[in-house]
Amino acid sequence: MPKQKQSTQILLGPVPPALIGCGNGKEINIITLAWVGVVNSSPPMITAAVRPNRHSYQIIKDSGEFTVNMPGKNHVDVADGCGTLSGQDVNKFEHFNLTAVKGTLKQAPMIEECPISMECRIEHIVELDSHTVFIAEVVSSYVESANLDDKGRIDFEKCNLLGFCAGSYLETSPLGLSIGYTKKNN
Ligand SMILES: Cc1cc2nc3c(=O)[nH]c(=O)nc-3n(C[C@H](O)[C@H](O)[C@H](O)COP(=O)(O)O)c2cc1C
Repeated sequence: MPKQKQSTQILLGPVPPALIGCGNGKEINIITLAWVGVVNSSPPMITAAVRPNRHSYQIIKDSGEFTVNMPGKNHVDVADGCGTLSGQDVNKFEHFNLTAVKGTLKQAPMIEECPISMECRIEHIVELDSHTVFIAEVVSSYVESANLDDKGRIDFEKCNLLGFCAGSYLETSPLGLSIGYTKKNN
């Protein structure tokens, strides 16, 4: 099918609208980030791209850590609200009635209401033009027990994770396991 040129738009999606938890001892905050990615498996590393004018930016940079929390499809309002309100004006945990959970990190809290959470320690910082990229090691991952199958593997159908593409929130539902994934886990 012929395609039409769309300037230099980044057409990568759907992506997860991740809720990033951060803290500095004085305050805790949540920022929604769609620009997160997987970049290494051993050690497990992910990236988070944050504009320096975000209130969360300095908190993340100074503390050297953050959590990545994956919202379910019932949390469109939270994902959008944490991505439009600023922690400078609002305590987002209180505003959205979310529970901050302390794990193994010093300051950054996880969000209990999200079915999946990961704790990350920053290893590298790359300053680009518009965004700063935090490259972080995942030091622990957690999944709500109700979302595990009988072999203890994550059942993504049960997680009902939220997706984001071209400005819209989406439902994500699995269409089938990859052959590679099935072999690796059996
Ligand atoms: C779906 C969605 C995705 C977003 N992705 C990013 C992102 O990847 N990087 C970024 O710097 N801001 C992103 N934002 C904007 C911030 O979440 C927003 O500016 C937020 O209000 C900043 O909060 P803070 O001031 O408390 O840090 C996104 C917003 C939404 C709604």
